[in-house]
Amino acid sequence: MNSKTQSVLELKEVYKHYFQGEQKLEVLQGVDLKIAPHEVVALIGPSGSGKSTLLQIAGLLDHPDKGDVVLDGESCGSANDGMRTALRRDYLGFVYQYHNLLADFNALENVVLPQLIAGIKLAPAKEKAEWLLGRLGLKERIYHRPAELSGGEQQRVAIARALANTPKLLLADEPTGNLDPHTSDNVFLALLDIVKETGLSALIATHNMELAGKMDRQLSLKDGKLIDMRPSKRIKEGKNFY
Ligand SMILES: Nc1ncnc2c1ncn2[C@@H]1O[C@H](COP(=O)(O)OP(=O)(O)O)[C@@H](O)[C@H]1O
Ligand SMILES: [Mg+2]
Repeated sequence: MNSKTQSVLELKEVYKHYFQGEQKLEVLQGVDLKIAPHEVVALIGPSGSGKSTLLQIAGLLDHPDKGDVVLDGESCGSANDGMRTALRRDYLGFVYQYHNLLADFNALENVVLPQLIAGIKLAPAKEKAEWLLGRLGLKERIYHRPAELSGGEQQRVAIARALANTPKLLLADEPTGNLDPHTSDNVFLALLDIVKETGLSALIATHNMELAGKMDRQLSLKDGKLIDMRPSKRIKEGKNFY
């Protein structure tokens, strides 16, 4: 990483709208965000508030109408497709609500493949995949295909895959949103553990306030803008003095 970089991710005055039929939908209306190295940030907000839109823009999967995305100190607004693809591959890890694992490959292969694509040799790629899967509690499961794994196990494999190329920033979009509450808690805590252990930064969208509370910082998307939850908490605490 660029040693002068203060933030792993910066969004600067990001705007995004969609049209639904005739109707213009202003989803992001001047979103500013900075994520520091090693920081784990919760992105909360009701369904439809724009969390996925924000994560797609931060992950260079979509372009903002206005504003800029800065990754590792590099402004991506004017970056060409090749550079955006390289940043996605080398700098970012993604976890989605639905795992998108390759059905014909076992857990180990699903975590090895992205490393081979990034140019890593088979032996170290396998070693890394085994370590990640073991660390996520899947040591006995590495030769199973996705269909032979439970929903929670599949999602753990997806987490291992996202971390396979040692990203600097993990973007996760409701990563346990389709799991039952108990499994969701376990997988989420495993995710937070490994993020902390590997020292990467993360921006994780979730509905679950309790899990959000376990992260370093909570940001709420409301009316197209991000609100830091900490100041309002301080105001509330301050009010107790009166
Ligand atoms: N490609 C699209 N075209 C039109 N509307 C969209 C598109 N993607 C998202 N939206 C709308 O934008 C709003 C924000 O969506 P989204 O970012 O998915 O929110 P969240 O992830 O918080 O549920 C929603 O009203 C959604 O219907
Ligand atoms: Mg969403």
